[in-house]
Order: sequence, then structure tokens, then C-alpha cells
Amino acid sequence: MSYYQVKNLEQYFKHYNKSIREPRKFWGKIAEENFTWYQQWDKVVEFNMAEAEISWFSGAKVNIVKNCIDRHLTRRGNKTAIIFEPNDPKEEAQHITYNELYQRVSKMANVLREQGIEKGDRVCIYLPMIPELAVAVLACARIGAIHSVVFAGFSASAVATRINDSDCKMVITSDGGYRGNKTIDLKGIIDEALTTCPSVQTVLVAKRINSDVNMTAGRDQWLQPLLDEASDNNVAEIMDAEDPLFILYTSGSTGKPKGMVHTTAGYMVYTAYTFKNVFNYEENDIYWCTADIGWITGHSYILYGPLLNGATTVIFEGVPSYPDFSRFWEVIEKHKVTQFYTAPTAIRSLAKESLDFVQRFPLSSLKVIGSVGEPINEEAWHWYNDHVGGKRCPLVDTWWQTETGGIMISPIPFVTPTKPTYATLPLPGIQPVLMDEKRNEIEGNQVVGSLCIKFPWPGIARTIWGDHQRYKDTYFSTFPGKYFTGDGALRDEVGYYRITGRVDDVVIVSGHNLGTAPIEDAINEHPAVAESAIVGFPHDIKGNALYGYVILKETGESRNQDNLRNEINQLISGQIGPIAKLDKIQFVSGLPKTRSGKIMRRILRKIAEGDFSNFGDTTTLLNPEIVEEIKDGRL
Ligand code: PRX
Repeated sequence: MSYYQVKNLEQYFKHYNKSIREPRKFWGKIAEENFTWYQQWDKVVEFNMAEAEISWFSGAKVNIVKNCIDRHLTRRGNKTAIIFEPNDPKEEAQHITYNELYQRVSKMANVLREQGIEKGDRVCIYLPMIPELAVAVLACARIGAIHSVVFAGFSASAVATRINDSDCKMVITSDGGYRGNKTIDLKGIIDEALTTCPSVQTVLVAKRINSDVNMTAGRDQWLQPLLDEASDNNVAEIMDAEDPLFILYTSGSTGKPKGMVHTTAGYMVYTAYTFKNVFNYEENDIYWCTADIGWITGHSYILYGPLLNGATTVIFEGVPSYPDFSRFWEVIEKHKVTQFYTAPTAIRSLAKESLDFVQRFPLSSLKVIGSVGEPINEEAWHWYNDHVGGKRCPLVDTWWQTETGGIMISPIPFVTPTKPTYATLPLPGIQPVLMDEKRNEIEGNQVVGSLCIKFPWPGIARTIWGDHQRYKDTYFSTFPGKYFTGDGALRDEVGYYRITGRVDDVVIVSGHNLGTAPIEDAINEHPAVAESAIVGFPHDIKGNALYGYVILKETGESRNQDNLRNEINQLISGQIGPIAKLDKIQFVSGLPKTRSGKIMRRILRKIAEGDFSNFGDTTTLLNPEIVEEIKDGRL
């Protein structure tokens, strides 16, 4: 019996039980039957949750890119691996076959080696959604270099922080990128970032917008001439199962982003398995995930998961609103997309436009539709289900995180009955538990608590780059012996999970995971600002928006408050990126603080939401009178 695909509900429970009772046999069999290994593992899994030490398939030798490309060449050499849909619909789409992808990745891998990149070196990739991005990622993995993709919407200072944290030796970027009717000067941003990045020796520059860019002699090189010269054959590096595959930065509750480290074999097995099941992937499907490869969703479900299964995956350079709000639906129709995976924020922004944009297209090729990144509200769920899925495509609401590597809780289409706003059941291998405030596991159904996972799964991140202690503290210490997700959840009467949102200082804005601390740090750099606190509040389109409470140094500050607000938002844009801008900034004379000096964000959240009904226990506040003042000044 194969465990690779769950075909009906009875089988789901069978596989699930097997995966819990005998995780080693379950994952061992999946790993053995569905991948190419140079050498088998000694142990399927070993772990010490107290120390946050986890390894999967240790002793095995493997290369993930050989599994993504080379092994498909005999059967699928002429099959399309990647469809590139450009920003401008008038520009022709590209179809890249597995044979071509092999050649392009091999050339890039050879260029990287010629430029002195070796196994274990870190390479920062800062590219728009163009084929070179996929090729660069895969080329790094092929030669064992650790890729660190930084989303091309981050500012120079955010890129620099990430480059320096992992001492990247090289940056791969482009002259610029298209986004709707705008162009973005990516090379200019890299030039600015690199004034503070001593580890970077080489910058490879792809051409996309044909702009004039500054090329620093001895450091910067155009990519294409190097590729033209390189051989299109490349011998992949033999990697240990636990060698790092990539670093991907995610926000934390302190100022510094966390470089989550994913390793090779476990991530490979987990992304392939979850892709196959959650999207009901079959051989001739055309799969499209609208995320950016700069986020984990793009890593796992634009590149690795689909390619490991020999799928055709769409890379879309543009935005849902350009040239108009029918772009997504037009692309689905054009390429006959069978699985479509997007974020609630995109759905909400399209649902507020005329229905005609979507109804113009039959969308009959679609088989499965998916959602990821934040809770999907009931209204958006129904709009998506009715108007995109035509009430006939299962809607998979997939819950997972950068740290989990792959999807954890999700319906399996045609297997798990869906329920609006519920991520439903854990995938085989995943053991979620809800914990109460006393750190006890909450048994039974119809309960709410903090969501933890009590047994390791192959895709879990292994550490934070350069800071294992922080990894341990953040994820394994709140509830000893368990992985703490930072999310709250409820379990309904049949055991379905619904994710209720973050219970820590992270706010999800338009699907982007933003830590409040780095934003506060940016605001506090403004010379007029003494202190600040950020909270999220509900927003129709973005899910959450940011509300800032700011204390100015001089009370009675005579400067124009709107100017100050603009300056603060510019600072945030410069330090983090435009996605972190505040929707509302209220100037206050103080913040509600406990005697130990901790800001009571619960109250600030309620005020931002406009809910003055019950502030809960305020007796521990040092300055309870401030609550009234803040409430009265609410924007
Ligand atoms: O709060 C949860 C929310 O997104 C967080 C993870 O963000 P990130 O690491 O950026 O990864 C996003 C893509 C996997 C989670 O802790 N989240 C993600 N998916 C869902 C979700 N919240 C509710 N429902 C979801 N389907």
C-alpha cells in the first residue's frame, strides 16, 4: 500500500492513524517510494523537543533539484515545467519545458560555481517574479549553496539587514521589475543596501526592464553574457539530508527578523507530499499559485512542491488589478488552470469590484481553489467558492507558516468535506493540540486555545540562522516539549480546526506577516518621537491594518500633525517597506503600562477596533487614567 495519496475519507483516517502510531514507517515509506536518493537514511526521525533539535532522514544523501528536474527528464522532458505569464498581457507567455529548465538551471549553477560560490555559501536573491528567479533558486540548491530570497518589495535597509545576518557572498538581482503600471528600481535598492554589506563580493544582474543602472566595477556583472558562455550540463552536489537548503526571513516579536533555516530531505518529502494531496495534483494539471517566490508559499508551492511532482507551475509577474480586475480570471482561462491558490486579501479586493470582471470567464478548467496566509472571513469564502469555484471546486483553506515549511491543516479536496472559514483537519503526520493558559492540553471538542504541534514533521524549520537559542525560546519554551505556532485556534464539535489569529505581537496585513517591534523601532527613530506602540485592527480588504499610538517628545509639539504622520510613514517605508505603513497614527501623551513597564496592547487593540465595552482587568496598570484620554482621541 502506498501512503503518497489520500483518496477518500476512510483512507484519510487510516493514513492519519498510521502516521501517528508509526511515523517512522509512514514517512519512511513515502520517502523511499517517491524520491531519488544517492544513499538511504539511517534514521527516519530523531528529536529532542526540549532542545529544539530535530533531524529527518539523517545519514541520507540527496539533491532536491535532481528530484525536481533530472529524474523527470526521461518521461517528462518535453512537458512544460514553468509557464511564465508576464506583467503585461501583451507580452507573450513563455513555456519552459523540463529539458529547458534543466539546461537553464545547469548554466546558472555553472555560473555560480565559476563565480566562486561553493556548497554552504549564502546567496541573496532579490528578483522580481521572472523565470530567472526560479532558475537562481534551483541553481543554488543544485550546488548546495543556501539561498536567501528576499521579497523584492523590501527596502534597502531591510535587504541589508538580511544580507548581513547570514553573510551572503553574492546577490542576484535585476535592473528592475514591473508591477502593474509601475517599474521598480531593484538594482538601485541593492546598490544602496550594499553600502553596508561587506560580505558581498559579487552582484549578478539580470535584465528585465532595460533601464540604465550603475554597475560597480569588480563587483557587478550582467548575468546573460555569463550564462551564454556556461555549459548547459552540471553535476549536482551530493547533499546530506540535514544540510541547509535555504534561509527565509520572517518577522518576529523583536526587532530583528528571524532567518528560518530549512534543510534538504525533510522539506523535500513534506512539500512534495502536501502538494500532491492538498491540490489533488494529477499529471496533466496546470497549477497556479499567485504568491511571490519571496515568501514561503512561493518556495514550497510555486517551486519545490510542484516541480517535485513533475507538475506545470505558473509564475505570474503581475498584480490582480492590472490592466484591470479580471486579470486573474483571464490568466486562468488563457492557460486552462486547474488549481488556483491565492490569499484572502486578494479575494477581498477583487470581491469589491464588479462581478462582471469574474463572470466574463467560465473558469471551467478549475478543479481545486485554495486560500492561504490569513484567516478567510465568511463573506470572502463564499464569494470565492461561488464565483471562482462555481460551487463545484473544493475550496482548501490551508493553514501553515514559514516555520512549518508546508501545509499543516487543510481539507484534502474530494476527501474532506469543507466548512467555511475552517482549515478543517490536520494532514497525516501532523498532531495539533490546543493549550490553555496554565499550559495544559485541552482535551475534547468545542474548545479554544493556543495552537501547538506535539510531534515533529519532516518540513519543520530546524533553527534560526545563527541563533538556535532564539529558535528554542520562540517556539519550544512557551509550552515545553511542544512547537508553539503563535496562533490561536478553536476545535469544533467534529474536531475541525478554525484559526482565529495571532496571539503574539505579529499582525498579518494583506497576508504579510509583520512584527510590531521592528515598526516601532522605525517610528522611534523619528527625532520628534519618544515612544510608540502598534496594534492591528480589522480592515475590509487587508484583513488587518496597522494603528499606531505615538508619544511625541515635546508635548504641545507645534508641528503639523499630518506632516509628522507622513514623515513617520516614510521612515517605515524606508526601513521595512511600504507594506508596513500605518493606516492611522494617533498622538497620545502616554501608553497604558503595567507596573513592570509592559505596554498593555490588549487595551490599545480594543480602542483601535472601536470596542470600548470591556477593557478587562486594568488594575495592574500604572497609569489607568491614560485609557480615557486615548479612547477620546481615537481616530
Ligand atoms: O497566523 C497564521 C497565518 O499566517 C501565519 C504565518 O505567516 P507566514 O509565516 O508569513 O506564512 C504564510 C503562508 C503560509 C500563521 O501563523 N495564516 C496562514 N494561513 C492561514 C493563516 N491564518 C488563518 N488561516 C490560514 N489558512
